[in-house]
Amino acid sequence: MAATWAFHALDFGSIDLPLDTYIPTLDLREPRRDGAPTDAELGHAIFSVVDQEGALLIRSDMREAADLSAFLSSIGHKPFSSYVGGTAIRSAPVADNVFKSTDLPPDVTIPLHQEMAYVAVIPDYISLFCSSAASQDQKTNLVGDMAKFTQTLPDWVFEKYRDRTARLRRFMPPRGIDHGMFRLRRCWNDMIGTSDRDEARAIAAERNWELRWTEDDFLEVLQEPFPFFRQHPVHGEIWCTQAFAYLPVIQSYLAKMDGRLDDWNRMQAAMVEAPETLDTAVLDDGSPLDDEDALFIHKRLEEQTFRIALREGDLLILDNILRSHGRSPFHGTRKIFVALGVRH
Ligand SMILES: [Fe+2]
Repeated sequence: MAATWAFHALDFGSIDLPLDTYIPTLDLREPRRDGAPTDAELGHAIFSVVDQEGALLIRSDMREAADLSAFLSSIGHKPFSSYVGGTAIRSAPVADNVFKSTDLPPDVTIPLHQEMAYVAVIPDYISLFCSSAASQDQKTNLVGDMAKFTQTLPDWVFEKYRDRTARLRRFMPPRGIDHGMFRLRRCWNDMIGTSDRDEARAIAAERNWELRWTEDDFLEVLQEPFPFFRQHPVHGEIWCTQAFAYLPVIQSYLAKMDGRLDDWNRMQAAMVEAPETLDTAVLDDGSPLDDEDALFIHKRLEEQTFRIALREGDLLILDNILRSHGRSPFHGTRKIFVALGVRH
């Protein structure tokens, strides 16, 4: 049974998940009572629970991206500065510091991950807001408890990866090529935020990236090193990397699991004929990551994946180290907005 919390006349509840996991909840649909907290007190209570418990699901009357933006700024949410370097296919902001969660097609599983855990500095919080629920109550939101995940890792994972870093090596198409092999990849112009190669080189230099364009304007980027474990201010050392998720062995595993046979066939062919055109990650010394380790980590994550159905107005605020998130394939409509934040 989960704990309950009370701050400033706020009553927190919880939804219980398997494996003794739970998500604290707070219902803000009721009009505020006498003695209700100020916006600042509400923000303090919300982020205290998220820092301690890793997550908070807020039920609200909000519906639009602009409502979310206004609410977050009222509770003192500090936006994460930039999505430059992000891999998700994601369009421009839809309101101040609020984005569509992803434009990836609905037939694709997005496995559990901590947001941007393939760069050196990641957001502390990710907020997922349901503007329009998935039809038929499909449980499309995946969440994982990474503190528990870390506790279950065998010693060899700590010994092998604790002091190492990895680098993402990506092969990105120019704008306008978004089919076949590249239907699930961002174009380099959007990823870097410019089509001007000199500007791109300047941005890359600031971030310790190495760029190489092919003759037909594809771009290979070796991104900056990032760790496998990160320190959480309350909970200490937590597994927090997306290195393995980018390996062809995992992308191809996911394509097969989703029944995306065209994607799977293309991956298989490219792995043999043109591996340099696939995204991947390498260790800091340039050596390849171990496919067996990637499958081990991925399957462990699958075992600890919980599925929930966000309803309209639900705002799930996650500590981006303590909780991972993902999305299952779905049918019909679904509209989720996202905001990335930093701790005060
Ligand atoms: Fe994400």
